[in-house]
Amino acid sequence: MDPRQVAPLLLAWYDRSARALPWRSPPGKPPPSPYRVWLSEVMLQQTTTAAVARYFAEFTRRWPTVEALAAAEDGEVMAAWAGLGYYARARNLLACAREVAARGGSFPPTEQELRGLPGLGAYTAAAVAAIAFGARAVVVDANVERVVARLFAVAEPLPGGKAAIRAAAEAITPDDRAGDFAQAMMDLGATICTPRNPRCLLCPLAARCRARTEGQPELYPVKPARQARPHRHGRAFWIERDAAVWLVRRPARGMLGGMRALPDDFWNARRDGSGVAPIAGEWQAGGVVRHLFTHFSLDLHLALYSGEDWASLSPDEGEWWPLERLEDAGLPTLFAKAAQLVRGGRGGGP
Ligand code: ADE
Repeated sequence: MDPRQVAPLLLAWYDRSARALPWRSPPGKPPPSPYRVWLSEVMLQQTTTAAVARYFAEFTRRWPTVEALAAAEDGEVMAAWAGLGYYARARNLLACAREVAARGGSFPPTEQELRGLPGLGAYTAAAVAAIAFGARAVVVDANVERVVARLFAVAEPLPGGKAAIRAAAEAITPDDRAGDFAQAMMDLGATICTPRNPRCLLCPLAARCRARTEGQPELYPVKPARQARPHRHGRAFWIERDAAVWLVRRPARGMLGGMRALPDDFWNARRDGSGVAPIAGEWQAGGVVRHLFTHFSLDLHLALYSGEDWASLSPDEGEWWPLERLEDAGLPTLFAKAAQLVRGGRGGGP
């Protein structure tokens, strides 16, 4: 197959079938601002379009420009990000907004310069260059990887196969409309060339697809043998006083860094927690929250405090947060589930 045949077929399909998404212009129309493209692409890494839509609307309402975001307080942005996960993205988001604002508020237009900004890896830099600036950039996310692996029946398992997939993606990327092309590949991967049961009868590239000719397109991309996900145990501590709960701010670096949280016993991806409570006194079992992170699963055992050793809680490390406003604390999903378990157990109220 001549790789140059792919783009015209795909773009014609995109002109008819592009998904209308809040961060997009319709096919062939001038692109949205680089700020909106960048913000959406950072949010869309590892997160579904459905989940991102709500957060994108809220962020662009509160911070309509990169300067506005740059001027926001760290805690406000982290709280607004709560629930999206992968919190290093939010910290990099702020660092990047501040750098762009310091340079006069314009994102640089080339892939290479974009790569120099905080948090912009190969994917995001290519996506922003192509979608916001119309540059010819090769944009490879998991959807694109799957489509390309099938089109060319790339037999080498991931991650080794990524180099061949990238080379093939490079060969089919057109000089014009690279942004529409990238988004067309993403749409094809999300709606037709899906991981299981691809809908090849609707695919504009079916006649050119080697995996389809072979008969089992869902076998691509070839996956490496699966490694077991380790399972960890940790404890989180519910300390309540006068209708308020003690919340800490997690250290900036590390898991869920910079987010508000319940105090815990320092479990992480490599280790169980120590079991040690932050203050002395009586503790009761408050149930277990199970949570899946990318690289491990966690049983978080809740411990409920019934002592009165308030003096050993340092205001440098935490704050009393009113239970009636707990939804505004911006707790990451793990701790929001823990709070739900404690409070749900007594009928929802404080
Ligand atoms: N996933 C990542 N970027 C996307 C985009 N621009 N449109 C749809 N899905 C995406």
